[in-house]
Amino acid sequence: ERGVVIAVDGPSGAGKSTISRALSKRLGYLEIDTGAMYRAMAWLAREAGLDFDNHQAVKAFSDHAEVELQLHNGSTRVLANGQDVTSEIRTPEISMLTSRISTLAPVREAMMSLQRKMGARGGVVLDGRDIGTVVFPDAEIKFFLSASAEERGRRRFLELQAKGVQTTLQETIDNVAQRDQQDSERELAPLRQADDAIPIDSTGLSIEQVIALMEQVY
Ligand code: C5P
Repeated sequence: ERGVVIAVDGPSGAGKSTISRALSKRLGYLEIDTGAMYRAMAWLAREAGLDFDNHQAVKAFSDHAEVELQLHNGSTRVLANGQDVTSEIRTPEISMLTSRISTLAPVREAMMSLQRKMGARGGVVLDGRDIGTVVFPDAEIKFFLSASAEERGRRRFLELQAKGVQTTLQETIDNVAQRDQQDSERELAPLRQADDAIPIDSTGLSIEQVIALMEQVY
């Protein structure tokens, strides 16, 4: 049995990756953190000093950049041109840069074709912003995970603190809000709930409670 495609979309800090990881483990599915792929592209772009306004340069960059998600002892490693960038891509600076680079068509096309390849056989949970609307519009199961802005900011802040990133709660809340606005207002593949997605508000819910809600669906 191959399994289906499960799309988990939603704003920053809604718990998408935590929930997707737990869900994929439970189902024996592959977890594809598409945000990590865009983050790796942002990291590479910064390394290369890419000029976002230079269309030709952006195209060449997107054609040659290599992003890979590698399953390693039950956790996912993110490789950018072969280099392990798993922790480097989690800084607030890279978050903001990612939100900018993900507006560019060649970057989105490259990531989308990679994601479609990785999910082609089913048995995958993909989390992102445009999975249910653009990347896998025919996904068998779609969730739209949200939470109050305050809770999302708080979760992100705790995550960053645990990773030793220097920031404040207010800065994190602002960062998350700014990114959501950019992601929702962009022209290409904006953050949007698919018509056939099941909305889940995770405010005040534990991981187990969210998974239990999801399991009522399949
Ligand atoms: O999910 P995460 O916060 O790691 O995503 C980082 C950024 O990558 C988002 O703010 C968004 O701009 C971009 N992204 C996207 N499409 C996806 C996943 C992430 O544009 N499918």
